[in-house]
Parts: sequence; C-alpha cells; structure tokens
Amino acid sequence: MYYIDPNAFMNSVLAAIVGTAVLLLAATMFASCLGKRGRVMSYLNMFTALFGAFSLVVVVMGFRGQKSDSRPWHIFLDMKYQPKYTSQGQSKYFADGRGNRLSPADTVPFDGTDYAADAGSHNTPNPDFLKADKRYYLGVADAGAKRPDGTVAGPKWEGGKLTGEGYYVNHIPPQAVEKANGWEPLLKRGQVQFNRHCAVCHGASGRGGSGELAYGIVGAYGLSVPPANVLTVEVQAQPDGQLFNTVVNGKGAMPGYGHQIKDVMDRWAIVAYVRELQYAYGNPLVK
Ligand code: HEC
Repeated sequence: MYYIDPNAFMNSVLAAIVGTAVLLLAATMFASCLGKRGRVMSYLNMFTALFGAFSLVVVVMGFRGQKSDSRPWHIFLDMKYQPKYTSQGQSKYFADGRGNRLSPADTVPFDGTDYAADAGSHNTPNPDFLKADKRYYLGVADAGAKRPDGTVAGPKWEGGKLTGEGYYVNHIPPQAVEKANGWEPLLKRGQVQFNRHCAVCHGASGRGGSGELAYGIVGAYGLSVPPANVLTVEVQAQPDGQLFNTVVNGKGAMPGYGHQIKDVMDRWAIVAYVRELQYAYGNPLVK
C-alpha cells in the first residue's frame, strides 16, 4: 500500500506551477534582453502570461483552507475585532479587576433556561422561584433552629405528644393539600411519584435493602450503602419537613430528587404517601 499526502501533493503541484511561471518569466526577460524576436519570443510571452495568470489564481485561491498557526487574513472585518469583555476576562473599570459581574442583590432573573434559578418566562412565570413561604417551599419552620455545626433542632415532644416545631415543619403544609384538591388526590399523586422516583431503590413497599434482601431494583445489585428502609421507627419519627428535605436534597448516599420532582406539591405528595406506607406497615412502638 502507498499513501499520498494530499497536502504535500497539492503543495508540490502549486510549487511546480509557480516555479514554471517564475522560470518562464526569467527566460522571457533574458530573451528580450538578448533582443530575441519572432516566433520564439511570442511563444515565450504567451506561456509566461498564461502561467503568470495561472500562478496568480493559484497563489490567491490555492492556499485557502490550509491549516496555519498564524492569524487569518481578514479582508472584510465584519466587526470581528471589537472591544468587549470575554468570559473570565479582566476589566480595569472595576476595582476588583473582574470582567464578570454578579447580578445586583435581590435581582430576579427572568427568561433564562435554568428552571431552578429563574423566575420563568414572562408568559409562564415560575411562582415557586421566590420561595417566600419557607414552610411550603423548603419544609422549614424555623430557620434559626439550625446550629452552627449544621445539625438542626428536632420537634418538641411532651408526654408522648408533639408540642412544638424544630427546624423542620412537623406537618405537610395545607397548601399542598389545597393544590392537590384534597388528601385523596394528594396520596394518589404521591403513589405515582413514589413509584416513579423512589421505588427503583426503596421498592414499592419502601423497605429498601440490598442484595438478596432488596425490595428495589437498584438495591438488588448489592450496594455498599443499601437503600434505607423508610418504614422504620426512626424515619416515622422524623417531621414531615425532614422527609421533604430528603426528597429534594437527598441524604448521605442518597442523591436529591428536587431537580426531577420540580412541582413542590409532588414532593409533599411523596411525603404523604411515605406516611401512608408507614401507616400500613405499622409502628411496633405504638400498640
Ligand atoms: C438511587 C437510589 C435511591 C433513590 C431513587 C431514592 N433513595 Fe432514598 N435512600 C437511598 C439510600 C442509599 C439511602 C440511605 C442513605 C444513607 O444512609 O447514606 C436512602 C435513604 C432514604 C431515607 C432515610 C433518610 C434518613 O433520614 O435516614 C428516606 C426517608 C428516603 N431515602 C426517601 C426516599 C424518597 C421519598 C425517594 C423518592 C423521592 C428516595 N428516597 C429515592 C437511595 C435512594
């Protein structure tokens, strides 16, 4: 097998054409200096003109599309060079020297592509964006109940009864029930959403597990951290807001599902359905 480098081949063809033209030009000039006339001279003139024109075309057009490390010739500039800030670029105008600026505080972005970081398009606004109601949108009752080490205060119990909220809301906020048009549709929705997003790992029953004991598909592969049993007494004792937070942001080895379950009502619906599963399973401590 042999291989022709098209670039090298084309370059030698070009070089041959241009070289012939140069030789012809030299020969013609030499001959005219010697005072040659007649047929030889007219042939020389003709071929020089022919190859000259040919090389001109070759030189101007022939090198287009070649690779080169130097800057291309821009005959028509078309605003290719203009003063502007490039991403991650610098600016002398700002004291910190950065060309990229953060939006001013409390700016509300509109018409972007990132649903979670955007107030939506002007035609279909995203009312969830501002999350003014922390109870409904974050499941948080008292943001001040977070300790400096990141742990949060739990709900207050007195004599076996809930008497106050901690960091998370104790109960599913009424807006979720209203938006779903009642508890029954909320639970139905929760069942659909749970089976769609959670059952792969925790199983339709919520009992999780891994390997031989797995209820879900993912757990059957014998994970190092098995999907938790969400029916345990410990999870039953968690406030609704904490379950909501686990759905949205995940916990430990479990990833968050907020980016998939975008409708906040659906997240609460899942919490409601987990409660239903727990109720069906029963609480061995409650007789
Ligand atoms: C990719 C598999 C996977 C999916 C999908 C998944 N989980 Fe989990 N979940 C886990 C694992 C693994 C753990 C244990 C995490 C740990 O202990 O580090 C866990 C733990 C939990 C816990 C216990 C948290 C605690 O406080 O101990 C709850 C509740 C829970 N998941 C609910 C859900 C719900 C509701 C969904 C659906 C939105 C869901 N999970 C989807 C894997 C998953």
